[in-house]
Amino acid sequence: MTEKKFPEGFYWGSATSSFQTEGGIENMDWAKAAREGKVPAIGRACDFYNRYESDFDIAKELGHNCHRISIEWSRVEPREGEFDEKEIEHYLQVLAALRARHIKPFITIWHFTLPQWFADKGGFEHPDSPQIFARYCGYVAQKLGNDCRHFATINEALPYTSNGYRRGTWPPFKKWPGIDQVSVPGYKNLHGEKGNASWRNIIRYFKVLKNLGRAHNAAYDEIKKHAFGAEVGIVHHIILFHANWNPLNKLLAWFMNWHWTHQHLRRIHHKCDSIGINYYMHKKLGDTATYEKTDMGWDVYPEGLCEALLMVRRYGKPVWVAEAGIADAADKLRADYITRLVRCTYSAIQKGVDVRGFMYWSLMDNYELAQGYTKRFGLVEVDFETLERKVRPSAYVYRRIIEQNGLVE
Ligand code: BGC
Repeated sequence: MTEKKFPEGFYWGSATSSFQTEGGIENMDWAKAAREGKVPAIGRACDFYNRYESDFDIAKELGHNCHRISIEWSRVEPREGEFDEKEIEHYLQVLAALRARHIKPFITIWHFTLPQWFADKGGFEHPDSPQIFARYCGYVAQKLGNDCRHFATINEALPYTSNGYRRGTWPPFKKWPGIDQVSVPGYKNLHGEKGNASWRNIIRYFKVLKNLGRAHNAAYDEIKKHAFGAEVGIVHHIILFHANWNPLNKLLAWFMNWHWTHQHLRRIHHKCDSIGINYYMHKKLGDTATYEKTDMGWDVYPEGLCEALLMVRRYGKPVWVAEAGIADAADKLRADYITRLVRCTYSAIQKGVDVRGFMYWSLMDNYELAQGYTKRFGLVEVDFETLERKVRPSAYVYRRIIEQNGLVE
């Protein structure tokens, strides 16, 4: 029997985001797109806005000692420059509910959705978007900074830009000519929305990526001004590109890792106290192996998390696994998948990556973006008719790992 014990004080929990769980958010770009039939309707989602107390009871029961939420920008700043104290009060109560259960809060200030006024201005295409975003972040930090010490500014700049400005499957539905030939399972739009193709979208794609980097850097300074001593970072999605023996494939994989991960992190790492990593997929160029598939159609390859974590070691920052998980409605693969993810996290720590915590995506089934409610990542199953919650068996396997602070195998 071998023991893989994690460092004392390691954080274990799960993650959620506002628009995927809260319900009732109308004043933003995804809600508008849903009204126009371009993405699946969101509606009341998990009604987490009203049920967070009982959902945190479940998280507590499952042994979690941390939880990552996001703040809905369109609630907090419904009109440009006008902040809604009532909504901030709501998030203060959410944080108090976590504190009452001894669950450490992690806040992501922006997770994909734009308030409608900001989307109408061009969102992150707008030259002033970094300052507009930083002002919002500063406000959040000022109001929530006493109750939360861990902030991430932006969730996943690359998937946001790729789906919104390259493939055209997410708002604002802009795509590159010819891109329909390159499809990624799971990122297809259930409503078939494919957006408008234009060569100018290539320029927009790079501009938005750059502005997101600038937005993070400006937000970092604003948050630091208002939430003294808080940890401020980013959440970055890693696709692990690797290759078979072929040197050309290896070169291409190197280039893809540079573009997808390092180009972005190099712009912002000097303004990151920590880095959050989300891992879901790999792409092995020239690979002929066949893999079991998740319900998203993605390879079951949790082992990619090891290398994903090693990729960010060079930045010398504390690292959080801010998301990793599997869509598996039948709950057949999830327990093993989590165990393998944890094994990878352990091995990355042994190799010198300063991993501080692991957050499974997601606590419960929720609105899976352009796939609507069809894909189920939750430790907890949600019946979207009755909103009843049912803990899946794999959640108890994860609880055992947490109780042991690691693996005993
Ligand atoms: C995103 C989540 C999403 C999950 C599963 C992550 O990239 O942050 O919002 O639900 O992937 O696709």
